[in-house]
Formats: sequence, structure tokens, C-alpha cells
Amino acid sequence: MPSSGPVEAKRSPGERLGRCYRRPVTGTADPALLLSRRAQGATSSTIRDILVHASAPGVISLAGGIPAPSSFPMAELRAAALAALEGGTDAVQYGRTDGDPACRAALAGWTDAQVEPEDLVVTTGSQQGLDLVSRVLVDDGDPVVVGDPDYLGSLQALRSHGAQLTAIPVDGDGLRTDVLAERLAAGLRPKLAYVVTNFHNPTGATLSTERRVHLAELAERYGFVVVEDDPYGELWFDAPPPGPVGPGSEHVVRLRSVSKTVAPGLRLGWMAGPRWLLDAVIVAKQSSDLHTSSLSQGVVTALAQDPAWRAAHLDRSRALYRERRDGLVDALHQTFGDAAPFTVPGGGMFVWTRFEGFDATARLLDAVAAGVAYVPGSAFGVDAPDHSAMRLSFATASVDELHEAVRRLHAVVTA
Ligand SMILES: Cc1ncc(COP(=O)(O)O)c(C=O)c1O
Repeated sequence: MPSSGPVEAKRSPGERLGRCYRRPVTGTADPALLLSRRAQGATSSTIRDILVHASAPGVISLAGGIPAPSSFPMAELRAAALAALEGGTDAVQYGRTDGDPACRAALAGWTDAQVEPEDLVVTTGSQQGLDLVSRVLVDDGDPVVVGDPDYLGSLQALRSHGAQLTAIPVDGDGLRTDVLAERLAAGLRPKLAYVVTNFHNPTGATLSTERRVHLAELAERYGFVVVEDDPYGELWFDAPPPGPVGPGSEHVVRLRSVSKTVAPGLRLGWMAGPRWLLDAVIVAKQSSDLHTSSLSQGVVTALAQDPAWRAAHLDRSRALYRERRDGLVDALHQTFGDAAPFTVPGGGMFVWTRFEGFDATARLLDAVAAGVAYVPGSAFGVDAPDHSAMRLSFATASVDELHEAVRRLHAVVTA
């Protein structure tokens, strides 16, 4: 057996293996070292940490993208759950990994008449769709394109699968596909590009029709997958957003959800995309959760039986959030004038603004002490987080509360 050198000999077996094997060698070592390197490297969601403070009594939270409880169709959900259970034991039995055929048929007709039931997979929220797509596409170190800024949950999911994130700026028309084209021409070869096309979280921007066409062309030309994440598209206030990116393309997968338009606790979303990708996703989902809740699928299937009710319900939700969007926009204009620049979102739940010279990250706890919570823009940044930016959600607070929240924010920003 070759002898180890003098330096090597002084190190413990655990230390010698250190870089690639971190398991403790004695029973007294910190058991947390048993966590995988990936788990040790993962950080908790800033949004979730902040929400702990934001839910303190007296605090008006503009932090979470939490749907208004008054938008939940409780009577219809109760009737749908009853109908699902009265339909038999299948409502609580194990089911197919790709989703119950009746539910897939219902979701195919949800808003996308052009999607066939066999071209979609039911997921446990669109967050699971994102996780599964990342899992089947990304190897350690693979370049992945995201927006700058972008949805924190996507950054976390992609990073947890080893993605090397390249952030492309987002402006009032969404992801700057011209900048992406330059980066691709310069040699960037991403596995996938993640984009929230409609009423972006966090900026509220909607990807323009021209950029949708451009993005689909780039994906075909350079051979990457566009992951179109669209949980907000149905929540438009002024006009419906443009159609999906590259319909029918072998390079586009679209994630949808009932979280923002029915209820997030159902944990029900779906993914529509090319067969080669869906087949891999189904295998990955088997080891993740076997299938999405049969009862939730039964509830959504029952709700889908009444398209007239669904249309009326969506109209009510749009009216509710439109009024709140207007409330927040008016309050910001009246209180801050030009000092709080922002693009008025045409739907969704978020306004993205910035206060020059104000450190929204460092002052968050002061804001919470003053009775208002927001998410600092830095939480959504990849390379150079914008510390003066913040995301304000108008989804949960009433119009009166939104005005009061902006008054409190003004006190903190001008203190
Ligand atoms: C852009 C975006 N994608 C995905 C999700 C997760 O949604 P779901 O509840 O469907 O998992 C959210 C939730 O806020 C979101 O904002």
C-alpha cells in the first residue's frame, strides 16, 4: 500500500476525503454534515423568511403574491369536492402519474383549446412543473437563461439542480431578447431559457408579441428549451395578453396553474409541451410524488364542468384585482409622484418600483416596524441585485389598506 506523505498522514480520514466526502467520522460530529452538498448549499427563500415578519399583527403586507381569500369560490369548491367524492373511491385512490384523463381533458379546455389532453401532464402546482423540467434538462454547471430580475422560486429550483444562471435584463416589454440574441451570437449555449411571459413576477411586465416570436426563433436556431411559466395570464385587467410562445414548437414547454385563479392550496398545475420532454417529466414525477392529489384533480374536473361559471368567476377576480391595482397605483402616484417610477401592470399581482438612494434590503425591518412589508428587489436578482428596488403586491390588501401601506412606506423612505 503506498504510504501517504507527512502532511496527508496528519489529517483525519474525513479531512483527507474532505472535498468530495463530508460525512462525519465520529458520532460527535454535527449530524447536519450528513446533508448532501446540494442541501448544504441551498438557502431558504427570502420571501418565506420575510413573510414571518409580514404576518405580525398590525403589519400591512405587500410582500407575498398571496391571492385574496375573498376570491376563493368556497361554495363551488365545497360542491366540487362533494361531487368528486360522490363519484366514487377513485377520488381518493392512487392515480396515473401524468394525471387523471378526465382532469387532463378539463385542463386542455381550460383556456387553451389548441392543447390536446395527451400533450399535458398534471403537476402539483406549477412550481413542481418547474422543478421537474429543471431536473430532466439541467446537468451540473449547465448554462440557463433567466430574467434580471426574476421569480425567486424559479431561481431556487434551477440552482438546486446545478444550473449556472445567466441573467438577461427585463424591461417594460419583458425579457430583452435582443440582449439574449447578442449573448447567443457571442457563444452562450443555454440548455433552457425560463420566462414568465404574462404580468411577470416581480416586474409586472408582459413579453411583447415581437419578443415572443423572436424568443421562439432563437430557441429553434440555437437549440434550447423555452420554459414559459404562466400562472398569471388569465388575470388580465385591460386586455388579454398575447398568445403563447412558439405554439406547437418542440422547443417550448408551458407551465400553468389554478393557484392564482381558483385556489393555491389545491396545488394543481399542468405542463403542456413536446412528447420527448413530457415522457422524461413523467418518469421524474414518479419518483417525486407518484401523482398529483386525486381529490384536487377531481375538484378541478368538477369545476370545469361549468364553463359559464368559470368565466363569471374570472371576471369577478379580474375586477377585484383591477380595483386593487388601481388603488396601489393611485396611492404611489399621489404619495411619491416621480420619486417612485414604475410601469403600470396590465394584470397579475405586482408593481415593481425603486427609490433612488433607498436601500430596500437594509431597511426592510424598519419598514416592518413601521407596519408595512414588501419584498426587496435584491431577492430577485442574479448578478448585481438592485438594492433600491422593491416588489409590491396589491393582491392581498384592500384598497384602504393599500393607501395606508403606501403612507407608511413614505414615512420609512423619507426618514
Ligand atoms: C411566476 C411564478 N411561477 C410559479 C409560481 C408557483 O405557483 P404554483 O402555486 O402553481 O406552484 C408562482 C407563485 O407565486 C409564480 O409567481
